[in-house]
Amino acid sequence: MDRRQMLQTSVYGALLSGLGACANTPSLSAQVSSKIPSWPAHIQKIAFGSCIDQNRSQPIWQAILANQPDLFIFGGDNVYASSQPWQLSNLEKAYATQAAQTGFAQLRSSVAHVAIWDDHDMGLNDGGAEFPHKLASKNAFLDFWRLPADDPRRTREGLYHAMTFGKEGQRVQVILLDTRSFRSTPLKTDQRDAPGKERYVPDTNPSKTMLGQAQWQWLEQQLREPADLRFIVSGVQVVVEGHGWEGWNNFPLEQEKLRQLIQSTRAKGVVFLSGDRHIGALYKSPSANSYPLYELTSSGMTHAWQTAKEAGPNRIGDLVTQNHFALIELDWPKRQVIWGFKNTDGEWLRKESIALSELQ
Ligand SMILES: [Fe+2]
Repeated sequence: MDRRQMLQTSVYGALLSGLGACANTPSLSAQVSSKIPSWPAHIQKIAFGSCIDQNRSQPIWQAILANQPDLFIFGGDNVYASSQPWQLSNLEKAYATQAAQTGFAQLRSSVAHVAIWDDHDMGLNDGGAEFPHKLASKNAFLDFWRLPADDPRRTREGLYHAMTFGKEGQRVQVILLDTRSFRSTPLKTDQRDAPGKERYVPDTNPSKTMLGQAQWQWLEQQLREPADLRFIVSGVQVVVEGHGWEGWNNFPLEQEKLRQLIQSTRAKGVVFLSGDRHIGALYKSPSANSYPLYELTSSGMTHAWQTAKEAGPNRIGDLVTQNHFALIELDWPKRQVIWGFKNTDGEWLRKESIALSELQ
């Protein structure tokens, strides 16, 4: 989503714009934080968020830290560096500014975390495979997120990655999908801003892709790995209906392919986490031959879209339109996922639960 367009439609955005950027821009050396947290042996609590403007005030980190999550998932647009013409120095400056945010630095040195990118940290609003600087941008991502020298993301194209935590019966798999590096160009709308076709309309051209062939094959292997609960993280929304912003709904054949893959691999425990939209919301999408697909979108840690309104045929409840993060608690004895949204004061805005038995 184009942040500027979103902000133009938001009174709150206008107010935020007036606040301006932080005055101090730290040196690149500020990015280097000495401590890298170790991976958790098992997971009971995950925090998740996306869309972080490095130049805005970020009180949200204190609320996140207070919850002591075992893992934090950065869902993309982790900094904003997509003004054109794209320059590596702008991205490096954005990362340096973000690294110097106190709460963020505290989290980065004390909470295990994983990250995937979206368009604004890749470098082109609503961009995909066509973005010419994606390799330079990827290299900056690898270094900012301090990925080890032997990390597979350093030697293959794109930033997709997966990790599994915990013992049998409580195994949590986190699958980070790269929905930018290989993504085809979506079909532009003929009615800009019309509800349901705001920017794009569904494109059923079979040659178009969200993930690209290699990532699809890799995903199939991942879904065959044993896990009790699988968080599939996608920068853009996955099963969501009712709007024409970016998302898997721009490519219905790819959306269906994902559904089919979950069925054919018999992967249990899949839920989706997504960002990009500057809203928070929960969705439930029924499947004819499988369990329902749930999705949690958490977007807007520093600048949520306060005036957002949209149809939500498969949304559960209202949109969350204030700055927030998602908190996911795993109650293993009760075999339950409790998930929802908290605001910058750490207060629950929404809280729902799913029985693991529903995801079989
Ligand atoms: Fe985005």
